[in-house]
Amino acid sequence: MTSQHTLLRGRTLTFMSEPQSPDDTSAYRYEEDGAILILDGQIVATGEYETLQTQAPDAMQVDHRPHLMMAGFIDTHIHFPQTQVIASWGAQLLDWLNTYTFPEETRYHDPELCADMAVKFYDQLIAHGTTTASAYCSVHRASAEAYFREAEKRNMRMIGGKVMMDRNAPDLLRDTPQSSYDDSKALVADWDGKGRAHYAITPRFAITSTPAQMEMAEALVSEHPDCYVQTHLSENHDEIAFTAELYPAARDYLDVYESYGLLNDKMLLGHAIHLNAREIDVLAETGSHPVFCPTSNLFLGSGLFDDAGLRARGIVNAIATDVGGGTSFSMLQTLNEGYKVLQLRGQTMHPLRAFHWITRGNAVALGLEDKIGTLDTGSEADIVVLNALATDAMALRMDRARTLSEELFVLQIMGDDRAIQQVYVAGAPI
Ligand code: GUN
Ligand code: ZN
Repeated sequence: MTSQHTLLRGRTLTFMSEPQSPDDTSAYRYEEDGAILILDGQIVATGEYETLQTQAPDAMQVDHRPHLMMAGFIDTHIHFPQTQVIASWGAQLLDWLNTYTFPEETRYHDPELCADMAVKFYDQLIAHGTTTASAYCSVHRASAEAYFREAEKRNMRMIGGKVMMDRNAPDLLRDTPQSSYDDSKALVADWDGKGRAHYAITPRFAITSTPAQMEMAEALVSEHPDCYVQTHLSENHDEIAFTAELYPAARDYLDVYESYGLLNDKMLLGHAIHLNAREIDVLAETGSHPVFCPTSNLFLGSGLFDDAGLRARGIVNAIATDVGGGTSFSMLQTLNEGYKVLQLRGQTMHPLRAFHWITRGNAVALGLEDKIGTLDTGSEADIVVLNALATDAMALRMDRARTLSEELFVLQIMGDDRAIQQVYVAGAPI
């Protein structure tokens, strides 16, 4: 059987580099009457509709005009078992974990519940235009199995790992150093590199891992240097103080992870808000990636991420929802709150940089920019179709918009799942 080309027609936007200013036209390609040519789940070409139509006259055509097509969104920090924790009231980080989050995560010892919730979790990602995410599963191996199995069914490029946690959590949510090593090892063997899956070694954070467990994480990282590593860093002042008590020899919070050899360019450090000068030096030296989680940082009252300060040191920041500390699955709403956080710091996030960040920018942080995050030839055809007129209020605002940047900013500030017209995963419409 010969494969059939698909030609998606609409306005196209893709980034070649991070836009350095609000009118840096050298950083992106935009086609008013554009198209994306797809074959076998991959992008063959992106460009003018007329040209591509001539190149593949027999392609199956889908007309998405007047909507805007770009690479699917990438969420670099999210918690699969916190899908039903969003909007849990009245607490900051440690109380929120103990009161709402840990009890909820205990339910994920049940493989049937995990399988059922995985369907619902991926439905939410897709509804919000997210085609790749890096997720924390629960401590239970079954939760990671269900997470990867559902990704495989949907042919999605997903990163994830079971959390390693052996103290300061309820009985039903603790593993041991040995079982966390064995389960992580088995999951790496079963899933890392299988189809579109990647494994992330996931010590939850310093507070819930003993030094013995950190040694196991160190062993996993040295045995699997191609795996991602993800954890939390300096989100909240009480968390930082408790970490200092638990690791009295550490020079600071980051030193806990540094001393166990966990820092490299595969490391994603959720939050990274309250950092000292030494920690920032080490982030820059090791190429580790802080992950800005604005809706979570505001919701839990954690603090204001210093995006410009870290970037000035050459650090590549990622951006993410952090559901369920985060309050929305939407990367558009994440940009909205992120914009406001940076305003409070006297910093800014112009719309071109914002849309670069949730597509190619996060792909660069993950080292996956040759596969996802752009509409380049050879990229996987994970695509989102956006409608800036999705609500009456957006349509009214768009009446007065004249430029691409204005349209993007309407999507950045007012957009959510209603603005997601269509999603393609590896070329297949969802
Ligand atoms: N630190 C350790 N675990 C978590 C979590 O689940 N959410 C957030 N926001 N911070 C954490
Ligand atoms: Zn988190």
